[in-house]
Parts: sequence; C-alpha cells; structure tokens
Amino acid sequence: MTRIPIAIIGAGLIGRAHVDRALREPGFDLVAIADPAPQGRDLAQAHGVRWFADYPVMLSEMRLRAVVIATPNATHARIAVDCLADGAAVLVEKPIADTLDDAQRICDAAAAARLPALVGHQRRHNPITRRAKAIIDADGLGRPVCLTAMSTWYKPPEYFDVAWRKEAGGGPILINLIHDIDQVRFLFGEVAAVQAVTSKATRGFEVEDTAAVLLEFANGALGTVTVSDTAVAPWNWDLAAGEAERFPRQDVNSHFLSGTDASLTLPRLDYWHYRKGKGWHDELTGERAALHLGDPYAEQMRHFHAVIEGREKPLCSALDATRSLAVTLAVKAAAASGAKVMLPPRIEGDWL
Ligand SMILES: NC(=O)c1ccc[n+]([C@@H]2O[C@H](COP(=O)([O-])OP(=O)(O)OC[C@H]3O[C@@H](n4cnc5c(N)ncnc54)[C@H](O)[C@@H]3O)[C@@H](O)[C@H]2O)c1
Repeated sequence: MTRIPIAIIGAGLIGRAHVDRALREPGFDLVAIADPAPQGRDLAQAHGVRWFADYPVMLSEMRLRAVVIATPNATHARIAVDCLADGAAVLVEKPIADTLDDAQRICDAAAAARLPALVGHQRRHNPITRRAKAIIDADGLGRPVCLTAMSTWYKPPEYFDVAWRKEAGGGPILINLIHDIDQVRFLFGEVAAVQAVTSKATRGFEVEDTAAVLLEFANGALGTVTVSDTAVAPWNWDLAAGEAERFPRQDVNSHFLSGTDASLTLPRLDYWHYRKGKGWHDELTGERAALHLGDPYAEQMRHFHAVIEGREKPLCSALDATRSLAVTLAVKAAAASGAKVMLPPRIEGDWL
C-alpha cells in the first residue's frame, strides 16, 4: 500500500475529526494543515506537521495527492477547484457547495483533472446504513412505500457563536437535513419532487430553525422529514446512531422505512414483517439485528485512499452529492414559494 501525502484544509469542528482519522489511516501520511485560525496552527504543532495560514501557499509548496476540505460551505468550490487543478484528489465536506453552480464547478474540475472528488456524506459509510441498504436492495421491504425521518435536537447557544452557521449558506437545512436527504436517496432511490414549510420563529436568525418536508420518490414512495435545531428531542441520527464521539448516544430510532412486505427502523435495525398471514389483524413480528457499530469517518478515510488507488469506486461522488444538494435546495425553494418543486430526472454521467 502506498502512503499518500494528505492535508486537511479547515481545522474546526469536523476538520479536527478528519485530522484524527487521517493520522489513523495507514494509507495516508498527514503532512500539513491549512487554516488561518490559531486552532489550525496549534493542531499542526501538536501533530508535528506543517501549518499554513493560506492554503494556496500550501499547494504551491507541498506535493499533495489528497486533501480534505472542511471549511465553511461557501468556500468549498474555490478550494476544491484549486486543489484538483493542483493534482490532489479531494474529499469535500457536505454540502458539496451552497449553490448548484459551485457544485458543478467541482464536478467539472474533477473530470478535467481525472481525479476523484468525494463528498463527506459519511452516513453512507456507516455499517447500519450499509445493512439497511443491503436489506432494501435485496427486496427485504418489498416495494418501497413510505418513510419518516426525524432530525430534531437542541443546539446549544455557543454553536451559533460561529457566524456562518446562522447566515444564508448555513442553517439546519443545508447543514443537517442534507445528511438525511442524502441517506434516504441512498436507501430509497431518487427524489422527484419536494414540498416544504420552514420556520425561524424560535431562534429568529436569517436562516430557518425548523422545517417540515415532503418528498416524492421517483419510484412512487413518499417521505416526510422533520428537522429542527431548537427542539429538545433525541430523535435524530447523530444522537441515535452514535457515529461521532461528541454526541452522547440515545437508544432510539430516527428513521422509519416501510414497504409492501416489511418495515425497517434505523439505527436500531428493527425489522417488522408477517410470518403468517398478511393483514392488520395478523401477528406482526419484530426482529432486531445486532447493532452494527463502526466509525464511518474512519471508513470514509479508508475509502478515500482506496478510491485514489483505483481499488474502489466512489460511494459518494461529487455528482451524486450535487444531486443531494439539488434536492436540499429544492426544500428551500419549495418553502420560499409554497409550491411543489419538481427535480429534473437524474443526471447520468461520469460519477468520479
Ligand atoms: N460530515 C459531518 O459530520 C460534518 C459535521 C460538521 C460540519 N460539517 C461540514 O464541515 C464544514 C465545516 O464545518 P465546521 O462545523 O467544522 O466549521 P467550523 O467553523 O468549526 O470550522 C471551519 C474552519 O475552517 C477554517 N477556514 C475558513 N476559511 C478557510 C480557508 N479559506 N482556508 C482554510 N481554513 C479556513 C476556519 O478558520 C475554521 O477553523 C461545513 O461544510 C460543514 O457543513 C460536516
């Protein structure tokens, strides 16, 4: 296995997690961190790697083959395009960008450089999601009918000390709901239309604090998703799946998926079906799979290395993540107009 030189741009909340996973991934050699903030310099010093305030200086001085971009959403496109043009594969944090034009710029730059551009929808790497996908793909639910996803928690006041999180480009739709949208697309298939209502009545920021969303899947299934960062509740993937150490785990479900033959809950993987008969008067059997634990951020980092080496195909390419962004932006557009927003049919292309 070749040790590939990697750098992390952006050493904030999630950047620090990537630094940790890059250090633990034997295929990568963490060589630099770029972040103008003192936390970036301190982190680089702590791990004995080079620190750059300006990422373009880092690109000109280091020969990088991989870069993780963990900066605010609005900066992703510029940084990703520069890294790709410099010959480095990128793992861009989600959302891939905050506009579709910027997301397309990343797709185009990856295609021009013939380099992978992956996006950090880490839930796809979670063994719970992988198990659910295997069940659904093997027709374990029958024909997908409907799903309900909850994304409700209370973010503490200090979370909003970081200005971009409460301004256009931030907010729980782009920061959090996009994870649920990407996950339900991964599990249930492409989204064809969206309706939504948002509210900022509680926090009063420029961006919403709560949204209720209706999804129509291309296969005819329907979904409802509720997101709020101001509701005291355990029903969200981050707390329920326990995939990041910073979230104390709660033993609840957050996603409920139903088909013509069975239902499945996530993350507990409760599987409900009829053993005998099939009707609401018959006995419904619930089975629980052993909990599939694993660190999706570490798995994502391993996968990034494998994709660079050509051993695996991208699990979440820039193009795929652009589609998740399109659905997420459609939620905003639907809420703003009060009308149903239709998504164009899936764009086929080079999924690098
Ligand atoms: N996948 C996940 O689980 C997950 C979790 C949290 C955040 N995110 C995403 O990660 C990104 C960062 O979010 P965060 O919460 O870590 O933000 P943050 O504000 O905590 O950290 C961002 C860091 O980027 C640095 N930065 C800003 N502009 C820069 C530039 N031009 N060059 C280098 N560094 C720069 C800032 O100084 C800061 O340290 C966002 O896109 C967010 O949506 C993903």
